[in-house]
Amino acid sequence: MIISSPTDFREAARRRLPPFLFDYLDGGAFGEETLAANRAALAEVHPRQRVLRNVSDLSLKTRLFGEDTAMPVMLAPIGLGGMMRQRGELQVARAARAAQVPYILSTVSVCPLADVIEASGAPIWFQLYVLKDRGFMRHALERAQALGVTKLVFTVDMPLPGARYRDAHSGMSGPAAPLRRALQAMTHPRWSLDVGLMGRPHDLGNISDYRGMPTDLSDYIGWLGANFDPSITWSDLEWIRDMWKGEMIVKGILDPEDARDAVRFGADGLVVSNHGGRQLDGALASARALPAIAEAVGKDLTVLVDGGVRTGLDVVRMLALGAKGVLLGRAYVYALAAGGEAGVARLLDLIAQGMQVTMALGGVTSVEDIGPDLLA
Ligand code: LAC
Repeated sequence: MIISSPTDFREAARRRLPPFLFDYLDGGAFGEETLAANRAALAEVHPRQRVLRNVSDLSLKTRLFGEDTAMPVMLAPIGLGGMMRQRGELQVARAARAAQVPYILSTVSVCPLADVIEASGAPIWFQLYVLKDRGFMRHALERAQALGVTKLVFTVDMPLPGARYRDAHSGMSGPAAPLRRALQAMTHPRWSLDVGLMGRPHDLGNISDYRGMPTDLSDYIGWLGANFDPSITWSDLEWIRDMWKGEMIVKGILDPEDARDAVRFGADGLVVSNHGGRQLDGALASARALPAIAEAVGKDLTVLVDGGVRTGLDVVRMLALGAKGVLLGRAYVYALAAGGEAGVARLLDLIAQGMQVTMALGGVTSVEDIGPDLLA
């Protein structure tokens, strides 16, 4: 299949992945209203078309938390990257490093942090979930710090997983799930060879590192529900703030009042996010929540955003709405599933090209110049 746009990867991923993985990646919570609203709200953000402004010398270079990046884009933490492609997180880390964009490794990655840092050749960012076993949190933070990680992304919008009906339909969870997955693997031989056979162990590497034994992935969704801690509060943030020497970025803020609390509890950054429509369905689209939050706390910390971003144009739209950086989630995971490291590299290239064209046609030449002024 010919890939000429960043959105082509979705169909390529759909063809390659067994449905239980494609639907886990592609799906959202309940009626998937917020999933759709994230995209729809971005389509309503209109850049001004400006002309005759000499846009020949254009740069995407950005500084985020003291790090130079090639563009204001990061690869979001996502669960089970290593099930999408053989040792998937290692491939993403290499592509991100080559493209000079930060990669945030999920707590529930398949490959453990140490292996991913080794593949990257430099410290990456790490995302933390709070498990009921609080010993894990301490272990994970100490381990990340020992490995040179300085940016911690603490996700706060998943005290429990949202109800994702597609997972039950697809065999990711629900009755006879292991059998249904095995049948799907048989009809997806490229995936079965690459990941099913060659991509072992199928594990949650960071968790098994801590527990000293493999994590049973036969009921992954059930595992999330059983192990994530719904009792978490802002005081856990205080504890993490004390313990963590580097930057702390709180991910999953959709309300200006919570944003102000994030400032109060010492966050260096936050991610405006509804978890890609995977948690509270009906919640506000990210692009709609962003301006009020940027207005409320943009002077106190670095505001990032995710949700529905598929193209370079979408990245520019989010920057114009007040974000300083934009996380890609599904956009790059489709590319990972479809094409591995080369797929992610190509996706990042297409995102950069899309940003350049959008900026040039909007008459701006640097990332700092993108703001509300660019909006029609
Ligand atoms: C998810 C979690 C694991 O959305 O981030 O599936």
